[in-house]
Amino acid sequence: MQLSDYLAQADALAHDARTLLDALDQATRLDDAKGQLNALKDERLVALQGALRSLAAEDRRAAGIAFNTLKTTIQESLDAFVARQSAGGEGQRFDATMPARRGWQGSLHPVTLVIDEICDIFRELGFTIALGPEAETERYNFGALNFPPDHPAMELHDTLYLGDDTLLRTHTSPVQVRTLQQFAPPVRVLAPGQVYRRDFFDATHAPAFMQLEGLAVDEGISFVDLKATLAEFARRFYGASRRVRFGPSYFPFVEPGAQMDVEVDLNDGKGLRWVEILGCGMVHPNVLEAAGLDSERFTGWAFGMGPARIAMSRYDIHDIRQLYDSDVRFLEQFAR
Ligand code: DAH
Repeated sequence: MQLSDYLAQADALAHDARTLLDALDQATRLDDAKGQLNALKDERLVALQGALRSLAAEDRRAAGIAFNTLKTTIQESLDAFVARQSAGGEGQRFDATMPARRGWQGSLHPVTLVIDEICDIFRELGFTIALGPEAETERYNFGALNFPPDHPAMELHDTLYLGDDTLLRTHTSPVQVRTLQQFAPPVRVLAPGQVYRRDFFDATHAPAFMQLEGLAVDEGISFVDLKATLAEFARRFYGASRRVRFGPSYFPFVEPGAQMDVEVDLNDGKGLRWVEILGCGMVHPNVLEAAGLDSERFTGWAFGMGPARIAMSRYDIHDIRQLYDSDVRFLEQFAR
């Protein structure tokens, strides 16, 4: 091979390599670019290296320098491609007009919001908070609350038993008895807490959920106090224009027993309708006696409600399981 041919071929290869890399899109992966470059180099660079030996001895030095320059040129073209790619590529991926990601703002759970609001209202009405254990005895959960020993609520399929006499409380009503044993009347307490039932976990039932119990015991307390206090609570919680109504109901630990309904709008286009909010009644004399009080002297009233249901109607939640999913996208809506 003539030296002039050799130098021309080296030049041509340098040119083709640069043209190839210049033509590549900036989004091309580096290994893809290298692959295309190698395909180009494979035959022609190897051929030029082999051709060195076929040159006349006096031309080899000049050809060797040209060969090394060619390799450097190809490498420089590749480096330039990488530099262009990272500068241009980054520039493309960075969009200065995108709104900044705001910081994650934690929030209280909707059920907690409802409980807090209800507790605030009753605090203004003179109530304090009382708590009791979630692992209860049969006596506090049932017996002392005037459940007969064969009451169906005590069946294995309704209640989660931990041992012979110990169970996960099925309601917050046992806190009534515990409070009356600990504090002498006048007593006005609110007892929020977790309760447990052997229920399926579906759209409307959960095996563990919150309840809110209320209790007022003193001398001379009557059904009028119950109605006035609970109606006042409803006015403050739902708005002064909402009507409430009381109807008869049965619970072993109250006599008479009642339920309170409030007119609420469930946002389903059907307007206001009556929704049961809580069970209530005058504390049964047997409950007062079980707590060691003289039921001739003291009277009282109590109520129990489910803040999850109240949260669901208030916030338009249709599946109770959403309250347990810990899905940040759901919970985020309640940040305030
Ligand atoms: N403990 C009842 C339940 O879990 C709710 C209840 C009803 C509580 C009437 C009360 C009451 O204090 O007076 O279904």
